[in-house]
Amino acid sequence: MNTTLPPRLRLDRITKAFGGVHALTDLSLDVMPGQIIGLIGPNGAGKTTTFNVITGAYRASSGTVLLDGQAVTSEPPHKIARAGIMRTFQNIRLFSDMTVWEHLLVAQPHSGLAVRRLLPMRFSNRKTIERAEEVLEFFALGNVRNRPARTLPYGLQRRVEMARAVTARPRLLLLDEPVAGMNHDEAEAIRALVLRLRQGGLSILLIEHDMAFVMNLCDELYVLDFGILIAHGRPAEIRANPAVLDAYLGRAA
Ligand SMILES: Nc1ncnc2c1ncn2[C@@H]1O[C@H](COP(=O)(O)OP(=O)(O)OP(=O)(O)O)[C@@H](O)[C@H]1O
Ligand SMILES: [Mg+2]
Repeated sequence: MNTTLPPRLRLDRITKAFGGVHALTDLSLDVMPGQIIGLIGPNGAGKTTTFNVITGAYRASSGTVLLDGQAVTSEPPHKIARAGIMRTFQNIRLFSDMTVWEHLLVAQPHSGLAVRRLLPMRFSNRKTIERAEEVLEFFALGNVRNRPARTLPYGLQRRVEMARAVTARPRLLLLDEPVAGMNHDEAEAIRALVLRLRQGGLSILLIEHDMAFVMNLCDELYVLDFGILIAHGRPAEIRANPAVLDAYLGRAA
């Protein structure tokens, strides 16, 4: 790895408080270009809050978020998205009446017109359509392209969320529990897709409670407990870390 490159993402001592609740305390974390990094920990540990701070949905109480060495802390969410950070949501947020195909058209930023959400077909140029086709094929969603999101089974809705997030060619993809509620085969399919996305140059930070998935996929893991980083290392190190076993993994066993 070229060590002169800045991290794709760096969190430098991020703290986020909600009134008296410290959801995150002094969190520092790096995602190097091409890495797949996992963020794990018990319910309420601050994982989704971390994504909300990175994407600008929440303003950090202190600390810095850097994308390729540039501070993006406190930029509005649309600017952070345009800079190349896209995410999926723990609770799926698709437009229930829009088709899969329409989701992929409106995910592309060519036109700032709000009306595109209402009339995506009419406002799409050839490049937009080609990119949507490419993503549809990559995610094997061709056979449900004309289905409204609400009619899809849960696992496919998660897949559409992921597809939408990569359509605008982000540099960093944030996945919030990408295989929650999926069976083993569905999770394996997602793992293969994440690996292919990395091959295509994407860097990925993911939150997940499915430990088999995380351990088999991630280059490194960061473990949060009560908003504090209690461990960071390779999956094999994390699996054997007494503090992690005590705070998290031991509970699931
Ligand atoms: N908007 C908010 N207002 C007040 N408290 C919040 C807000 N968002 C998160 N919190 C609190 O911050 C803490 C961390 O929540 P967060 O959603 O980040 O946890 P998590 O690690 O994603 O948990 P889970 O695994 O259950 O999804 C919790 O105590 C939560 O109640
Ligand atoms: Mg969460």
